[in-house]
Amino acid sequence: MKRKELIKKYIDFFKLKKHKEIPNFSLVPENDSSVLYTTAGMHPLIPYLLGQKHPLGERLCNVQRCLRTQDIDKIGDEVHHTFFEMLGNWSLGNYWKKEAIKYSFEFLTKILKISKEKLAVTCFKGNKYIPKDEESKKIWESLGIRKERIKFLGEKENFWIAGETGPCGPDAEIFFWTSRRKPPKEFNPGDKNWVEIWNNVFMEYEKQKNGNFIKLKQKNVDTGMGVERTLAALSNLEDDYLTECFFPIIKKIETLSGKRYKENKEETKAMRILADHIKASIFIINDGVLPSNTEQGYVLRRLIRRAVRYAYKLGIKKITEIAEPIFEIYDDYNLKKNKEKIISELEREEKKFLKTLEKGLNRFKKLASQKKKLSGKDAFLLYQSFGFPVEMIEEEAKKAQIFFRREDFEREKEGHRVLSRTAAKGKFKSGLVGNNMEVTKLHTATHLLNQALREVLKKDIFQRGSNINEERLRFDFSFDRKLTPEEIKKIEEIVNEKIKENLPVECKEMNLEEAKKVAKGVFDEKYKSLEKIKVYFIGDFSKEICAGPHVKRTGELGEGGRKFKILKEESSSFGVRRIKAALV
Ligand code: SER
Repeated sequence: MKRKELIKKYIDFFKLKKHKEIPNFSLVPENDSSVLYTTAGMHPLIPYLLGQKHPLGERLCNVQRCLRTQDIDKIGDEVHHTFFEMLGNWSLGNYWKKEAIKYSFEFLTKILKISKEKLAVTCFKGNKYIPKDEESKKIWESLGIRKERIKFLGEKENFWIAGETGPCGPDAEIFFWTSRRKPPKEFNPGDKNWVEIWNNVFMEYEKQKNGNFIKLKQKNVDTGMGVERTLAALSNLEDDYLTECFFPIIKKIETLSGKRYKENKEETKAMRILADHIKASIFIINDGVLPSNTEQGYVLRRLIRRAVRYAYKLGIKKITEIAEPIFEIYDDYNLKKNKEKIISELEREEKKFLKTLEKGLNRFKKLASQKKKLSGKDAFLLYQSFGFPVEMIEEEAKKAQIFFRREDFEREKEGHRVLSRTAAKGKFKSGLVGNNMEVTKLHTATHLLNQALREVLKKDIFQRGSNINEERLRFDFSFDRKLTPEEIKKIEEIVNEKIKENLPVECKEMNLEEAKKVAKGVFDEKYKSLEKIKVYFIGDFSKEICAGPHVKRTGELGEGGRKFKILKEESSSFGVRRIKAALV
């Protein structure tokens, strides 16, 4: 079966079961700090899983692009990927276990025509808070899955939560027998031939910060089926990289490297990593992220640099050549529209990395000529100042026959992480730099601008950066085209209107979960370490998570007859616009 056909079959099936299709959202989650990237289809649905009404109803489905980097070390085997597509169906307080399991079973056996002899399931065995999931087991049995094929496992395997807190619950995972050999009667979840293809999460709990589980207002179902794995299963392939989602990339790598896939274990692994990382990088750049040293940009940088290293190992000197087939495989994503941009970003990062490596290598040689042992500090310097990956430090040390222990490096790195976290907290608490009245006014103006943008552009604008000095504010936000003069005028009018209304600016403190429910804002790393978060309300016009400070009333911005004016609107980076504005 073809990828597009599988996706269509899934969506059509659930539409028939009265589900509404929701969009395939960006890899960069909006206003959700629990993850840097969308790791599952449920991320954009968190408020609705918690009880808010979804405009499309209680039964939803989609195909969602996802990115998971927690398994990055597993990439290289047959079934793990950083980027993948997930098919999902949801019940938001609507149907429950019986219907969910029946739908899964019907789709697998009737639509995909998979024999039930090739299926097995794991259910949750319970813990001190939540009972064993006997109910799911009975439903699977009633559908004809033999009891030898149903196993109970613990929290690690059969309890699903996206981050540390939030909606969660026991799950039932469906496994497929991938080997050409006859499936054994008894299911052993540890046997690699059984591959998990679909997960049904029964979300009826919310995990709180103190570790307690409370019951949600409603019982939800959240399912996720891996497109790549399912395609492999349907074609009797034991390797996702042989499906159409990867094989054209692998072929290109073969041509460029002159090496054959599956001939040599190490090279096969390198080919898979390379194919996976280039694909992930393309999708990330397409969603507006650029390589950098923080957050999403840092993940992208690591993926590209890792790809470059593996390309070199395979004798490929230019990673962009590998990118070509990806634009064809995923022509339904409109990647081609941004092709030039994507390729140039990949090229730029590759060059940067090579320069860095050269410098790092020189530094390494210098150190190596002076010492017999490379300390954790030396290695950390190479890593931090020269971007030298630790694996390369290990390799170079081996070549130069210098003693080096990776643990020393890891210890040093951890020490720095703690230090920088503390520093970040301090900086955050001290609020804005150059904290004077002009800056404070422009800060409040930034909030008004942000909300006015949302109203005029009718989009959930996502703040990408803000910088304020005494003269002007600068605001970067996610949006993919130039604003029209009419839109600019309208935005200015709204902000000036709100200044005239002399709205009160109030600050309320709340914990992260509450804050996320009520307000917009940039939920990033810095908030995670704080107990209480400030949310600024400007009348009932704007609500934003923010550390302040702000003026007391919006009228202060208009004192002396001043008006809010947009000085410039331009592109800041790909998919990001920049506005400079002032009170004049
Ligand atoms: N959220 C669950 C998962 O990722 C089901 O989609 O497995």
